[in-house]
Amino acid sequence: MKLIAGNWKMYNGPGETREFFEKFEPPSGVDVVVCPPFGSIGAAVASGRTIFAQNVHWAAEGAYTGEVSAPMLLELGVAGAIVGHSERRQYFGETDETVARRSLAALDAGLRVIACVGESLEEREAGQMELVLRLQVEAIGESVGAHDGLVIAYEPVWAIGTGRTATPDQAREAHAFVKSLLDVPVLYGGSVKPENAEELLAEDGVDGALVGGASLDVESFTAICRAAASQ
Ligand code: PGA
Repeated sequence: MKLIAGNWKMYNGPGETREFFEKFEPPSGVDVVVCPPFGSIGAAVASGRTIFAQNVHWAAEGAYTGEVSAPMLLELGVAGAIVGHSERRQYFGETDETVARRSLAALDAGLRVIACVGESLEEREAGQMELVLRLQVEAIGESVGAHDGLVIAYEPVWAIGTGRTATPDQAREAHAFVKSLLDVPVLYGGSVKPENAEELLAEDGVDGALVGGASLDVESFTAICRAAASQ
């Protein structure tokens, strides 16, 4: 079964979250998760759907202002977390080491994890895609191995929020490379929309999608879930 995860980033407060879930009826035959911002987690969990956080700390508690721990998320009814999204790597100092520590703590606590990797445009153009992916994936693999609760999201940074999607061939090649390093399901992320979801999800090794912008709208997110359910 494919996994479709909606990453809401810093959009949708509790009121908008309730409105979304009142209308959201995903099809069967697809594993659907929604990752709202922290303030909307309570409203999202109340819907009865599978909810992930967008980040999780490696300590169970402590003096870490602004962070949240895996046991706290579990107590809220959260089932998993995104870790190492490129926006966290780019703007909040997330490193391969902190991504590995967060992933390990979350999996040990019983959360599922979507750990994100992906190269920037400069890295791709400099022929460094495989090098970058290798460093990012091996850091996670060395820390947690091919854990049952772990999924990798391949998100080329140049495709995130840009409307520029990797071609199905580029996605297939990158996914095969990631799987050669760590044998876990791999989601594609980066400007996934109802119009391109079907052909991306049809590629070998594309086990689902991490959807940003198009997950905010009930109709477009449902259409992507339908495309995954029909595979
Ligand atoms: P996008 O974001 O679908 O808006 O490109 C994807 C992501 O950042 O996970």
